[in-house]
Amino acid sequence: MRSLTSRELRQLYLDFFRSKGHAVINSASLIPENDPTVLFTTAGMHPLVPYLMGEKHPEGRRLCDVQKCVRTGDIDEVGDASHCTFFEMLGNWSLGDYFKKESIAFSFEFLTSKEWLGIPKDRLYFTCFEGDENAPRDTVSFDRWVELGVDPSHIVFLPKKNNWWGPAGQTGPCGPDTEIFYDTGAEPCSPSCHAGCDCPKYLEIWNNVFMEYNKTAEGKYEPLKQKNVDTGMGLDRTVATLQGAESVFDTDAFSDIIAKIAELSHKNYKDSPENIKAFRIIADHIRCAVFMIGDQRGITPSNVDQGYILRRLIRRSIRFSMQLGIPEKGLCEIAKVVIAQYGSFYTELEDNRDKILSELQREENRFASTLKKGIREFNKLRSTLESTKIGGVDAFHLYDTYGFPIEFTVELAAENGLTVDIPAFHEAFKAHQALSQAGAEQRFKGGLADNTEATTSLHTATHLMHTALRKVLNDESVAQKGSNITPERLRFDFSFPRKVTPEELREVERLVNEAIAADVPIVCEEMTVDDAKAQGAIGLFESKYGSKVKVYTMGEFSKEICGGPHAERTGELGSFHIIKEEASSAGVRRIKAVLKK
Ligand code: ALA
Repeated sequence: MRSLTSRELRQLYLDFFRSKGHAVINSASLIPENDPTVLFTTAGMHPLVPYLMGEKHPEGRRLCDVQKCVRTGDIDEVGDASHCTFFEMLGNWSLGDYFKKESIAFSFEFLTSKEWLGIPKDRLYFTCFEGDENAPRDTVSFDRWVELGVDPSHIVFLPKKNNWWGPAGQTGPCGPDTEIFYDTGAEPCSPSCHAGCDCPKYLEIWNNVFMEYNKTAEGKYEPLKQKNVDTGMGLDRTVATLQGAESVFDTDAFSDIIAKIAELSHKNYKDSPENIKAFRIIADHIRCAVFMIGDQRGITPSNVDQGYILRRLIRRSIRFSMQLGIPEKGLCEIAKVVIAQYGSFYTELEDNRDKILSELQREENRFASTLKKGIREFNKLRSTLESTKIGGVDAFHLYDTYGFPIEFTVELAAENGLTVDIPAFHEAFKAHQALSQAGAEQRFKGGLADNTEATTSLHTATHLMHTALRKVLNDESVAQKGSNITPERLRFDFSFPRKVTPEELREVERLVNEAIAADVPIVCEEMTVDDAKAQGAIGLFESKYGSKVKVYTMGEFSKEICGGPHAERTGELGSFHIIKEEASSAGVRRIKAVLKK
C-alpha cells in the first residue's frame, strides 16, 4: 500500500478519473448559491444538485473534483481523532451515464491496483443497502463486489440509517449507497463487530451513492429522470489511513500547522490530553476560518448565519490558544501556515491573503480583551450559583456583554460540571431582539429578560436611578453602558471613574424612593431627537434612532429616551434597595438593585 501525502492523493485521484473519461471541475464555493436550507456546502454533490436532477452540465456526464466542505454539526466534537469542521471531499459523478457496476469497478481499481493506491483487498470491507418499502435490496452492488474478487464475508447489508444518502436539505436526489471501509487491524468491539458498526476498527473511506430517486417534500421517493452516481472520499481521512496515522491531525496536511502551534506556545502537542485537544481545535478551526474568509464568496465574522459560525470558530480557537499561552496575533501566524499549505491548490487563499489576515486579526482584537473579563465573570457567576444550572439571562449576559457564543458558554459550563438553561437563554435572546426591534425607529439599549410586571417596574426604577446617580455623583459623564433586567433585579452599568461610596449609594436610594413616594404618572411622548435634547432628556442620541423617538417622563424626576415598557405610575414600584456596587470594566461601574413590595 502506498503512503501518500494529501497533495499526492488529490492529484492521483483526479488523474485516475481523468483517465476514465471524467472532466475535472473546480471546487465550488463553500457558501451555497440559491440554497437557503443549508449554510455551507456539506458534500461534493451539493453544488451539483441541478445536474443530478437532469440539467445538462457543460463539462459532460462524467465529472470529478475535490470539493471544499464544511460540516458544523460537530464543532464541539473537534479535538478527537477524526472530527474536522472543514474537509475536502474527493468525488466522481456520473450524470445519467454509468451506474453501479462501473462505479464499483472504478473504486475497486483505484483502491487496490498497485498502479494507484495498492491497498490489499483483504483489508477492505463493504456495506450494501438491505432494502425497504422505498427501494429494493441492493444485490447488484453485492454481486459486483464479489465478482471483482471480494470475499462475501467482507460484505454486510444494512438498513436505510446506514446505507442511504440524501442531501442535507432532505428533499432532492437520493438513493442507496455502498460504503467502503478499511480494517485497521484493531480488536473487534464485540462479537457482532462489523463494517459500519461505528467502532474504530473499520474506517469508512469512500461512499458510492446511487442516486436514482427524488425525495419530495411529502416524503415520497420518485424515480429521477436519470440514474446518477455520486461518490465521496474524505481526503484527510484516507490520507491518515494510508499513512497509518493515529488521527487526521497526525498527517502531513497538519504537520506544519501543528509545528507552528508548538513554536508559538512553547508546548508539545502530545504532552497531555489537554494539549492534544487544544492543538487540534486550533488547527482545525483556523484552517476552517481561513477557507471561509478566503472563499470566492468569502464571509466575515458576524452574529448571524455563516458569519456566526465563523465567529464561533475563531473565538473558540482564541480561548484554546490563550490556554496554551500563545501570544496575541498568534492566529495570523497559524493562518499563514494554512495558506502556505493550501494556497497552491486553492488559489483563492493566496488571492485573499490580506483579507484573511486582517479579518482574523480584527476578530482577535475584538474578542481577546473581553474574553478574559468574561471568564472572570463566568467564574464569579459559578461561585454564586445555587444549583448546577446557569440561568438563561446570565448566559445571555455572557453573550451580549462579553461576546460568548452560547455554545462556548455551554462548553465552559460542561468543563465545570454545570449545564446551561438553553431554552431560557433563547427566551432572553428573543426578548432582547423584540425590544431592539421595537419600532424601527428605536433601539432599546440593554436587555429586559421579559415583559412581566416585576421586570417592567425594575426598568422604571432603572430610569429613576440613572437620574439620581447623575445628581448625586454630580457628573455629566455618568452614562449608561448597559442594562440587564430580570424579574428579580436590575443591573445597570455606567461610566464613572471610581468606586461609588456607601454614602452616595444611600443618597441615590433616598432620591429614588422619594420619586416612588411622589407617585407621579409616567408619560410617554413621541418627539424628534432635537426636541428631546432641547427638553433635557437623557439617553442615547444616536442618529440610528431616526427622526422620532419615544421619551418617558416621570414628573420632575426623570426624562429619558427609551423604547419602554414602563410602569404607569412610580407609586407601583415598592421600595428600592441597592444590593451591590462593583467595577464592571475599566471606567465602568455596575449596580445591582431590587424592589421590595
Ligand atoms: N454524497 C455522499 C457523501 O457525502 C457521497 O457521503
